[in-house]
Amino acid sequence: MSTPVVWFVGAGPGDPDLITMKGNDILVGADVLIYAGSLVNPALVERSRAGVKMDSWGMSVEEMVPIMTEAAKAGKCVVRLHSGDPALYGSIVEQIAELEKQGVEVRIVPGVSSLFAASAALKTQYTLKGVSESLIITRPAGETLQEDDISKLSEMGSSMVIFLGTDKLGEIVRKLRCPGDTPAAVIYHASWPDQKIVKGCVSDIVQKAEEAGIHKTALILIGGIVDPMGRYHRSVLYS
Ligand SMILES: C[S@@+](CC[C@H](N)C(=O)[O-])C[C@H]1O[C@@H](n2cnc3c(N)ncnc32)[C@H](O)[C@@H]1O
Repeated sequence: MSTPVVWFVGAGPGDPDLITMKGNDILVGADVLIYAGSLVNPALVERSRAGVKMDSWGMSVEEMVPIMTEAAKAGKCVVRLHSGDPALYGSIVEQIAELEKQGVEVRIVPGVSSLFAASAALKTQYTLKGVSESLIITRPAGETLQEDDISKLSEMGSSMVIFLGTDKLGEIVRKLRCPGDTPAAVIYHASWPDQKIVKGCVSDIVQKAEEAGIHKTALILIGGIVDPMGRYHRSVLYS
């Protein structure tokens, strides 16, 4: 008998064409689909031929794992569809640990993270000669994280992308230790048809995001890469 398998698939940032070809094939052919709520475009859920489709919003690992295990052991194609790429704020390791305890193998198909849909929307790059050679990916403290490193990290002058912080934008900006004129942007629903981009600097981004009515599902970008023109040095690659 072959080993039961659960596929973890990255759905991409929202645009249903931004799933990988491999992820799409597995999604379409799934028998059981558990997807990450409103962060996954409903068009992807509809595209799947799965007979069982469940929104994971509000479900615990203890609830999901027995469903996935039973189906995988019955020889079904089981897909756990995560938004963006599963490796970023996807809580996959605890699911993998529980599935492996049950003798289920997990295979992962990466996806396009929303962080890349955001840089595409801004027509910029996170690593840019003369501006930043590094990218910091982080999130603010909240219900599930006691303390964050935003103050310390913001002193480094690197490009920063902050997930899971749209509703805490004011608190995040107060923690920043970079100059008030450092470029900043808030990108809501990157790659979705209702995408919104708000650009400004650390000292005015809270007000601008408020005026644009952005309160959820956005990324906060900080650093010269938000406004790269006139700041960068030409790459050696093309000089
Ligand atoms: C649980 S995390 C999942 C991130 C996902 N794994 C990824 O790679 O994009 C959810 C957070 O990602 C960000 N996010 C997800 N999709 C987004 C999008 N299309 N545009 C902007 N931010 C997005 C928001 O900060 C949201 O609160």
